[in-house]
Amino acid sequence: MTDDGTLQNPRILLIVSGGIAAYKALDLIRRLKDQGCSVRVILTQAAMQFITPLAASSLSGQKVYSEIFSLTDEAEIGHIRLSREADLVLVAPATADLMAKMASGHADDLASTVLLATDKRVLIAPSMNVRMWEHAATQRNVATLKSDGVLFVGPAEGDMACGEYGLGRMSEITEIVAAVMGAVSGSTNMSAPLQSLKGKHVLVTAGPTHEPIDDVRYIANRSSGKQGYAIAHAAKAAGARVTLVSGPTSIPPPEGVKHISVLTAQEMRDATMEALPADVFISCAAVADWRVTKVSAGKIKKSKARPPQIDLTENPDILTEVSRSSSRPRLVIGFAAETDALIQNARTKLSKKGCDIIVANDVSSGTDVMGGEENTVHIVRASGVESWPKSSKSDVARKLVALCAGELS
Ligand SMILES: Cc1cc2nc3c(=O)[nH]c(=O)nc-3n(C[C@H](O)[C@H](O)[C@H](O)COP(=O)(O)O)c2cc1C
Repeated sequence: MTDDGTLQNPRILLIVSGGIAAYKALDLIRRLKDQGCSVRVILTQAAMQFITPLAASSLSGQKVYSEIFSLTDEAEIGHIRLSREADLVLVAPATADLMAKMASGHADDLASTVLLATDKRVLIAPSMNVRMWEHAATQRNVATLKSDGVLFVGPAEGDMACGEYGLGRMSEITEIVAAVMGAVSGSTNMSAPLQSLKGKHVLVTAGPTHEPIDDVRYIANRSSGKQGYAIAHAAKAAGARVTLVSGPTSIPPPEGVKHISVLTAQEMRDATMEALPADVFISCAAVADWRVTKVSAGKIKKSKARPPQIDLTENPDILTEVSRSSSRPRLVIGFAAETDALIQNARTKLSKKGCDIIVANDVSSGTDVMGGEENTVHIVRASGVESWPKSSKSDVARKLVALCAGELS
């Protein structure tokens, strides 16, 4: 156990059930080992239709288990031993079938018996067709499992192997690893980061920009800076060196974070470029798209003639510039605040700006996202979209930081 309560080499018992996402479990084993976990694998009979015990044991470096009636293993009451010699039982992918067995307490194969016999936390990553996920039976099982204390990561929304689109995709491997590390840290918050960004530089922009019209007036937007500040705070808590380039907000800078105050988009661009290199760039600021071409000196006076005409010029695109820069951070994440066609616009932004991830959030009136305490975000990658449930901006920040840590590992 380390000072921050983290298990040093968590022992993960990974149960792979027979879904189409089973092949991803092989990458999951590798990623968990990268995090210092030891991984012991149980394959259901159906899982062995998708991956071989040989592949799982080669990657885990351990024997793979699949038979309940194995004379050699059961001589030591193997199903009990397996469940006890773990810090966490992870089911990934979790099929509808295995979830149903878990919810009703079946124990008719090694996986379900271990799940019934375990005294450890159980984390599951469901993966199935959208109709299977939405079926009343599955939803009843989800409710039962949640009330039994089973932890969930996902499922995500996105394109499915069967050609359909919807909720039911297994969460990204980085998400699952982050959830595992949150669970073994003993945290009640599944996404709480460990010191997983130690030694990394995270550069965050936050808040609105103010574009002056004259000496007293300016163009602004409703951004409060709360989401960006929460990200800076979470990255700091995860051990990163953090630079926060912030437009005008009323929030005190998080402790231990290098805070650079700016006013305009141009100033934000300059401060951001100067703060590079970084390992991660998170562009959360609501940067004004345009500035006033000719800022008037003094205060424009009201006159009987027509109101003053304000001519606008496009501001620099900070996200694109960082993405295309020669000192591009390994991970570049942009936010897309949209009022229409959220996912479609986020996908366009992702390819146009050259970043790795767009965090899309709906800021139309009534959502109370701008200035509010909560956010509903969609993680848009070239490979698909993952929708996170509505949660506090701090929880979104912690999850995003955990995701960054996973991506960097
Ligand atoms: C090609 C194929 C893909 C499947 N994919 C899934 C899936 O993604 N999720 C799921 O819940 N079931 C899926 N199934 C159905 C399960 O394999 C089936 O319910 C099986 O009994 C699950 O056994 P297990 O839960 O013991 O592993 C799939 C079946 C086939 C033939």
